[in-house]
Amino acid sequence: MGMALKALAAFACLATAAGCGGDEEQPLFGPPTESVCPSDSTLTYENFGKEFMETYCTRCHHSELIGEARQGAPSFHDFDTLFGIKAVNEHIDFTTAAGPGAVNDTMPPDGAIPSDDERYQLGEWIACDMPE
Ligand code: HEC
Repeated sequence: MGMALKALAAFACLATAAGCGGDEEQPLFGPPTESVCPSDSTLTYENFGKEFMETYCTRCHHSELIGEARQGAPSFHDFDTLFGIKAVNEHIDFTTAAGPGAVNDTMPPDGAIPSDDERYQLGEWIACDMPE
């Protein structure tokens, strides 16, 4: 993702307090996004998933982080490898992705927040079974 997009994401977070985490009322898991895989999907781990996770998730969800460095991120939810992502892809859908059924935004809890467009792309990539 380019710098401009990152700045935009940070601004959107400031503009809408609800999108920035800390809302105790909101359950962690939203409904399934019901995303479908379009036959012309071009999203892969290499051109999308890896950068998405590195931009928004791996500062907490990383296999080399232990104890307090995880900032509360649960064990076995490590997104620095495709294997780790696939293992809990439904939970990623319920917390982070968007599709016709829901726009789920409880993750990440703070910091840089993905745009809705990026969340829809995540839903699509998961629905396509996360090609490498
Ligand atoms: C600032 C640290 C931080 C970041 C960044 C972060 N998370 Fe989390 N994540 C947490 C914490 C803390 C929890 C536990 C929340 C709870 O139990 O209420 C959690 C829980 C989760 C869960 C649910 C785990 C379960 O119990 O099944 C998923 C899935 C998840 N995160 C995915 C992501 C994804 C995908 C991203 C990137 C878009 C992300 N997280 C970014 C800290 C983080």
